[in-house]
Amino acid sequence: MTLHWLIALAIITNIVVILTVPEDRSPTAIAMMQFHMALGLTVLVLSILRLVWRWMNPLPPPPQGLNHWIRISGAAMHHLLYFLMVAIPLAGWLMVSANHFSPSWFGLFHWPAFPGFAGLDKAAGHQWHETFESIHVVLGWAMVVLVPCHIAAGLYHHLVRKDNVLIRMLPGTRLREGV
Ligand code: HEM
Ligand code: HEM
Repeated sequence: MTLHWLIALAIITNIVVILTVPEDRSPTAIAMMQFHMALGLTVLVLSILRLVWRWMNPLPPPPQGLNHWIRISGAAMHHLLYFLMVAIPLAGWLMVSANHFSPSWFGLFHWPAFPGFAGLDKAAGHQWHETFESIHVVLGWAMVVLVPCHIAAGLYHHLVRKDNVLIRMLPGTRLREGV
């Protein structure tokens, strides 16, 4: 639960940052891009941790009385979000690695190139950069669209169905039963 909210905050912040970067090479634009990359790489590590945690810990059952289609679409959406949480920052890392650029992690150290990418020649690096840039941008926009849907689903559970799906996601609650 803690990881869910930390990652959610980081992803939403990162989307706001990238969508408001000025389109010039000003120091502000450069600082915002560096922040986008450092925060995105943090999301990658936290999301991998979260997947490991999730794999080791079973989910509480969904609330009773949810129809088949809501259950299936909820599970599909969560799988898609997990995929995007890893694939987007991974594509970002591959994109900059192909360009031989190692982003600074909040000024503390330089993030290494993705294994195998440091030795790419200029032409191959350029090609891979273009490929992963397209993947990053398309998947990034998919996240921009899906997050509001996910939030709307959480609010639907809380306000319309009045079940405990949103409340049991709050850190500190230890509910294991479906309601
Ligand atoms: C939480 C993770 C991330 C999210 C949600 C995210 C989202 C996005 C989105 C939506 C765009 C497109 C913006 C537009 O169309 O103007 C973008 C662009 C970009 N991202 Fe990310 N990103 C993440 C992580 C990263 C990482 C880890 C890196 C690199 C290490 C990175 C580097 C870039 C770069 C260089 C661009 C500009 C690409 C271009 O405009 O051609 N991002 N990101
Ligand atoms: C970028 C932002 C977010 C991402 C990537 C994300 C991702 C996820 C994922 C993957 C799950 C599935 C949990 C699991 O199966 O272990 C989940 C569950 C959940 N999320 Fe989010 N989330 C985000 C933001 C939010 C926000 C802002 C809310 C507030 C309404 C929210 C409410 C919930 C709730 C209530 C659940 C629990 C569903 C259940 O118990 O079955 N999420 N989220």
